[in-house]
Parts: sequence; C-alpha cells; structure tokens
Amino acid sequence: MAKKGQEGFEDFFREYYGTRWDDLKSALAANDMKTLRKNIWVDFPTPKGLEQLSWLKDCFVKNSSYDDSFDRKLDENGLRYFYPMDPASVIVARSLNIADEGVVLDMCAAPGGKTLILFETMNGKGELFCNEVSRNRRDRLKSVIREYIPDRLREAITVKGIDGLQYGLQMKDHFDAILVDAPCSGEKHIIQAPSEVEKWSEKRTKRLAGLQFGLVCSALLALKSGGEMVYSTCSISPFENDGVLEKLEKKKGENFKFLPLEGEMYEKGERTKYGVLFLPDKCGFGPLFVSRIQKN
Ligand SMILES: C[S@@+](CC[C@H](N)C(=O)[O-])C[C@H]1O[C@@H](n2cnc3c(N)ncnc32)[C@H](O)[C@@H]1O
Repeated sequence: MAKKGQEGFEDFFREYYGTRWDDLKSALAANDMKTLRKNIWVDFPTPKGLEQLSWLKDCFVKNSSYDDSFDRKLDENGLRYFYPMDPASVIVARSLNIADEGVVLDMCAAPGGKTLILFETMNGKGELFCNEVSRNRRDRLKSVIREYIPDRLREAITVKGIDGLQYGLQMKDHFDAILVDAPCSGEKHIIQAPSEVEKWSEKRTKRLAGLQFGLVCSALLALKSGGEMVYSTCSISPFENDGVLEKLEKKKGENFKFLPLEGEMYEKGERTKYGVLFLPDKCGFGPLFVSRIQKN
C-alpha cells in the first residue's frame, strides 16, 4: 500500500536510508548552514569576522566578531554585498559549464541565488533567460537581480514566466546551457514544519518525479547539440533524483550522455548512480542532488 502522512514518511525514508535515517532526520531538522557568497560586481574589502571557505571560492562563514548589520548594507549604487546560500546551492550553479557568449536558461529560477552565480560565470557576456512560473516568486527574482547586478549589465538578462515544460516546444535547439533546479518534495522543509508532514505521500513524490522528468525532457529538447544541462533538486527521495535520470536514460539515452562531476567541491558529497548527493548528516549542509548531462 502507498505510504502517506507522518507514519508513511518515517517508513518510506527508514526503509531507504536504513540505520542512517535517525541521524539524517536530526541533521535535516537542524538550522541551515549558510555561507555568505560575495557579490563579485561590488568591490570591497572583506569585513572583519568572516572566514573564507578554503574549498569554495568567494564564500565565507561568520565568526562571533562579524557585524550582522553589514548584511543589510548597500553600496553607493544600491547593490548588496553578500547573498546567503547553502554551499551545495553554490556547487550546483557552478556545475554548469557555460561557453563564452553562451545563451543560457535558468528554467526554475526564483528566488535567484543560482541565477546570480550563472550570470557571474558568464562574466557579462552572452544572454541569460531566467524563468519562474509563479508570479510572486518571479517578483522576488526580479528584486534579487536588481539588488545584486549592476544596471549596465542587466540588459543581458531576460526574466520569463512560462511553464518550464513549454521550452522544448517553444525554443527547441536554442540554448547552450540549462539549469533545471527543479521543484521537489523538499523534505527538509517538511521536517522543519511539522504540519507539512501530514501532507506527505509516496504518491506526491512520484508525481513530482513525473514533473521533474517532464522538465528535463523539455530542457533536453531546448538544448543545442553539444549543449549542457545541470539537473538538481533539494529532495532526498530516490524517485526525484536518480529515479528521474534512470527514466531519462531508458527513454532518451541515445540523445545524451552523463558528464563527470570532478573537483574538490564534490568531495563532501556522496556519489549516486548518476550524480552527487550532499546530505547534512555527513557534510553539514544540503540536502542537494546534482547531475550533469550533455546533449549529443
Ligand atoms: C527549487 S526552486 C528554485 C530555486 C532557485 N533555482 C534558486 O536557486 O533560488 C524551484 C522553482 O521552480 C518553480 N516551478 C514550479 N513548477 C515549475 C514549472 N512547471 N516550470 C518552471 N518553474 C516551475 C517553483 O515556483 C520554484 O520557484
């Protein structure tokens, strides 16, 4: 029988994660580890009380001598200095390899932390389409772009609000690189908001896996030949991570290949069949799953 509610949630994840589940659940219930990621478009000396993470460029952790009011300050052009992010989110956005002058799509973009990194990687060249289907979240995305990216560079960014499923039909073979940071079950949020757990069901994670499969198929169609996609979720459900990509390999395997995830930043994660999963009981941040794909 399909599992649901508090009891189903516990059973489902205990069955999958085994004796690890209790530790993983406690780590998911704990506060997020956020780093402060420096806005590269603002030139400023590092404030006192911040320590650079040795393995993640431009990302800092606070110590007790940091003055929190700095987070709210703006520079003379009205730009913010730091964007707080989970380190795994930084890793996901930096996983997308963007060719010079590339045309890039951030398919599920709001609130926009990864958008900022994609734009930085593009170094002011090329074109970035940021898509967000929800109107409220799209407004938040627009504010983030305004608060972090200088006026003179913003014309390279187009904010769109269509269903990600439409890109494959409407903009076939159009993009050099696509980030699909897909809507997902977000079990960390479920654990931290106890009223949410009653709404959890195995059916729901399967339904989201169906939507995610649709989004990656749409992205695959929308990529140019040789173009690259990063697929990510903040789910710990096997259906929504490797499950989606297993189905993609079965149904469309002749159209793409998986690319390796190499480098120090992946070492804190755990290898799965198709990607790397960052889980907070082991590495202290996440959860986040990331995989790289190249269209043939
Ligand atoms: C995981 S969040 C994205 C987080 C974002 N990439 C960031 O780093 O700030 C997923 C987003 O996908 C949006 N979304 C949901 N269904 C969608 C669809 N069919 N097409 C495009 N976006 C969708 C949600 O509104 C949500 O904002």
